[in-house]
Amino acid sequence: MACPENMFFLIGLFMSGVLSTFGQRGLIATMPDRLDVLTGSCMQIPCSFDIPDKNKYTFNSTILTSGVWTKEDPYFDVHLEYVIFNSSETVNRYQGKIIGNMSQKNCTTVFFNVNTSYTNRYFFRIESQPYRATDIKKSVY
Ligand SMILES: *[C@@H]1O[C@H](CO)[C@@H](O)[C@H](O)[C@H]1NC(C)=O
Ligand SMILES: *[C@@H]1O[C@H](CO)[C@@H](O)[C@H](O)[C@H]1NC(C)=O
Ligand SMILES: *[C@@H]1O[C@H](CO)[C@@H](O)[C@H](O)[C@H]1NC(C)=O
Ligand SMILES: *[C@@H]1O[C@H](CO)[C@@H](O)[C@H](O)[C@H]1NC(C)=O
Ligand SMILES: *[C@@H]1O[C@H](CO)[C@@H](O)[C@H](O)[C@H]1NC(C)=O
Repeated sequence: MACPENMFFLIGLFMSGVLSTFGQRGLIATMPDRLDVLTGSCMQIPCSFDIPDKNKYTFNSTILTSGVWTKEDPYFDVHLEYVIFNSSETVNRYQGKIIGNMSQKNCTTVFFNVNTSYTNRYFFRIESQPYRATDIKKSVY
């Protein structure tokens, strides 16, 4: 019998396939597929990003770019609770910090005091005036 985790993974793959039929990705986030973390410890996600379509937007390192993490789903419009971290906010659902240098497209992030309720998929998004994009195809479990 398949364990719930495997089923979750298959659903994830199926959804990526469906989503890939829509236009080009506005953001490519590079991060591990999966991280195993001990309860009570901190979770460091190695992360970097790039904007594939330079005609759409060329990353400008002098403009402040904030980093956003969503859990469960990249679409948070009707589920604001999916937004668990926004580097522009001082209070977030998850206590964390982007330790990478966003100007260098380094979005390496640490979340503190992780517990079992953190088990989920996480998506990365950048918000850099006037450009905003989420990588809907890549998540870290
Ligand atoms: C980057 O943004 C700054 C500040 O808005 C602007 O002065 C500069 O021309 C921009 N650079 C490019 C390459 O667009
Ligand atoms: C992140 O925070 C900024 C500043 O409060 C806000 O303008 C932006 O909408 C927030 N982004 C998300 C995805 O909540
Ligand atoms: C990104 O930042 C992290 C934390 O400072 C660092 O350990 C890592 O080497 C950086 N990655 C790159 C590609 O520069
Ligand atoms: C981040 O990178 C930018 C561009 O390379 C650099 O100017 C800035 O000093 C760096 N910030 C930190 C905190 O290292
Ligand atoms: C797990 O962390 C969340 C978010 O920080 C917190 O709301 C919740 O109370 C924690 N659960 C346990 C069992 O510590």
